[in-house]
Amino acid sequence: MSKMRVGLIGIGGIAQSRHIPAFLQLEELVSIVAVHDIDHERAKEVATKFGILKIFETYQEMFNEVDAIVICTPNKFHAEIAIAALKAGIHVLCEKPMALTAFDCKAMSEAAKQSGKVLSIAYHYRFMKEVQAAKKVMLAGEIGNPLVVRVQAMRRRKVPGWGVFTNKELQGGGSLIDYGCHLLDLSLWLLGDCEPIEIIGSTYNVLSKTEGQVNQWGKFDPSAFDVDDHVTGYIKFSNGASMLLETSWSNNIKEDVIENVSISGDKGGLEVFPFSLNYAKHGMLINSQATWMPGEEKPDLPQAKNFVNACLGLEELVVKPEEAARVSKIMEAIYESSRIGSSVKFKIEGIVG
Ligand SMILES: NC(=O)c1ccc[n+]([C@@H]2O[C@H](COP(=O)([O-])OP(=O)(O)OC[C@H]3O[C@@H](n4cnc5c(N)ncnc54)[C@H](O)[C@@H]3O)[C@@H](O)[C@H]2O)c1
Repeated sequence: MSKMRVGLIGIGGIAQSRHIPAFLQLEELVSIVAVHDIDHERAKEVATKFGILKIFETYQEMFNEVDAIVICTPNKFHAEIAIAALKAGIHVLCEKPMALTAFDCKAMSEAAKQSGKVLSIAYHYRFMKEVQAAKKVMLAGEIGNPLVVRVQAMRRRKVPGWGVFTNKELQGGGSLIDYGCHLLDLSLWLLGDCEPIEIIGSTYNVLSKTEGQVNQWGKFDPSAFDVDDHVTGYIKFSNGASMLLETSWSNNIKEDVIENVSISGDKGGLEVFPFSLNYAKHGMLINSQATWMPGEEKPDLPQAKNFVNACLGLEELVVKPEEAARVSKIMEAIYESSRIGSSVKFKIEGIVG
């Protein structure tokens, strides 16, 4: 069987640290054949560093030479490149978030349906051991019906000081669209079939707009900072469950990082990081931790494997486009709610089938 030919578009931090190393480990199935980046010098350097043979000046030129692409550009370009690739009959693994707007996400999902090619979004948290374990627990119905979900993706003072993360035009938002999206995606995936009906959100950027703040991840220009650095959201679902979401790059909490999803159900509860099952049983309050769980230490390889196997028709895709589109639609509603100062009634409108 000939190897699947993969090309990467946008070969900055995430392409080099996660995707290229993961696909290189799948050398029996995959060959990384090409790269494209608007920064041609970077394209040359990275191609040399990883022994990738072809460098293309435009992403369209790459399409004749690959079976699949990985999109790692700033968020603004995800939709355009993904739709063009799908129309050219190429499978797409696109970095998160899926796109800047729910409208673009829908167009991407439709392009995937029409082409019959695979489109997945790199919500890699789903491939973490703890998350896989939590999904098994949820599928087994062990905690009963979920009632309240608490989602936290909090960094105390870690605004990315590199790239274009603080630029709204290119990224669409800040802490929510960049970081909170991962934990929001994984919590929705754990809940499974759930229909948001109303959303309220507040976004902040007071700290990052203030000169001279402490930041552990390099320097950025407060005057050009036009995204959110702290966001809260409240989501009501049609079955009566609700979600409290909080995400930040910058705040004044005690901890350096808080990252967790907790689901409290009518029979028990679970925490994902660290993994714990919580019960009230036999007159006691019991929390159980796993002493071992299967899976890889890093989620990058299982993510790449699932994408490749889905392209080869060997495995069901884990991160489906409709699910990633729903995450973007919820984030859009949180931003909209904050902008208009009231809640937003929510309709999936067929995005999730
Ligand atoms: N999965 C994760 O945890 C994770 C972490 C960081 C970033 N990301 C996502 O990955 C993407 C890239 O982030 P990054 O950290 O690698 O950023 P980066 O700035 O390090 O790299 C982006 C690269 O894209 C190139 N580029 C910009 N516009 C382009 C275009 N129109 N066509 C081709 N190349 C273009 C830039 O020259 C740069 O080399 C973003 O969508 C971001 O949200 C995901």
